[in-house]
Amino acid sequence: MPLTPSDTAPRIALVGATGAVGTTLIELIEERGFPYREIHLVASARSAGRELTVDGRSYRVAALDTFDFSTVDLAFFSAGGSVSRKWAPAAVAQGALVIDNTNAFRMDPATPLVVPQVNAHELDRRPDSGIIANPNCSTIPLVRLLRPIEDRWGIRQAVVSTYQAASGRGHAGMAELREATRVTLENPTGDAPAEEFTPTLAFNVIPFVDELLESGFTLEEQKMLQESRKILGVPHLDVTTTCVRVPVVNCHSEAAWIECADVVDRDELVRLLAAQPEVTVHDRDAIGGFPTPRTAGDPDHVHVGRIRVAPHNPRGFWLWLVSDNLRIGAALNAIQIAEALTERGTL
Ligand SMILES: NC(=O)c1ccc[n+]([C@@H]2O[C@H](COP(=O)([O-])OP(=O)(O)OC[C@H]3O[C@@H](n4cnc5c(N)ncnc54)[C@H](OP(=O)(O)O)[C@@H]3O)[C@@H](O)[C@H]2O)c1
Repeated sequence: MPLTPSDTAPRIALVGATGAVGTTLIELIEERGFPYREIHLVASARSAGRELTVDGRSYRVAALDTFDFSTVDLAFFSAGGSVSRKWAPAAVAQGALVIDNTNAFRMDPATPLVVPQVNAHELDRRPDSGIIANPNCSTIPLVRLLRPIEDRWGIRQAVVSTYQAASGRGHAGMAELREATRVTLENPTGDAPAEEFTPTLAFNVIPFVDELLESGFTLEEQKMLQESRKILGVPHLDVTTTCVRVPVVNCHSEAAWIECADVVDRDELVRLLAAQPEVTVHDRDAIGGFPTPRTAGDPDHVHVGRIRVAPHNPRGFWLWLVSDNLRIGAALNAIQIAEALTERGTL
């Protein structure tokens, strides 16, 4: 079904098709039956000529620097910020609409930053920049929960700690965690690989994700504040974060303390979160009654647990969330943007 000869199905390109996000995009295109008339797989010259399969057909990977974007209607970019900064405007100039997974254009006023479950109305018209930005992988699941909480009780402040998996650094991050773990098990006092994550991530946690800013916060922490404000349309929203890398292969987790303007009823909060699209609430305290990266279940849902209204301050509560960063935090959100564009006829 997905390879659709119809004139209306888009011709698509996946830039970064060989990467962790790109291969997840291919999986989701297959699983969801996303319709396309043509598909082009694009990566760096290193991978040009490699064969990848989509929907049972084999395709040769094309090199980005010779790819002609006038042959496609829609291009997904998942190949790093510098690649998007250079090539996404060129793709737009050649007539493609771009869905960008990097942070290159997220804060550009002419570029909507979209989580379809939160602000799909941004897709009612083609953006001025020709680019739609996909938010940061930790921001997406958080804003999907903050939206109904803000609407019901008003948020005074959200204090968030992230527990981010190695897959946030792509194939190289996952490979380094596996190798560093193997090396450390063999020789606990020896040197383990520490290029993607410094110091080594094996048997460690690192309170540092992305680069350090003058403010003392990291870029990842700043992204969670700025992007949440832009997506929710609440310019003074107070979200403050500590982003931490943990030795988990895939799936980010977050612990969030959310203080509201009004007193929160726990039963109503549980019902409200459980009613959100593609959200599963795990509302039991027994072991196994809360989500973890290994046991959460449906990878296309945001999983929430440990919901606790503070007895000494019933305007505030804690929750724990688990979300697949390669799917919900990147590829799934991008495909859901494309699906929403198709439904609206704005592709
Ligand atoms: N991983 C996540 O959870 C996540 C979440 C949200 C957003 N993102 C963003 O998505 C992007 C990709 O992440 P990833 O995790 O998939 O990384 P990855 O596994 O390292 O894959 C990188 C991809 O980009 C391609 N690439 C690198 N340099 C290129 C160049 N100069 N020209 C053309 N293609 C180039 C690579 O192609 P080759 O095979 O040819 O090297 C590969 O296909 C990054 O910007 C990242 O910030 C990632």
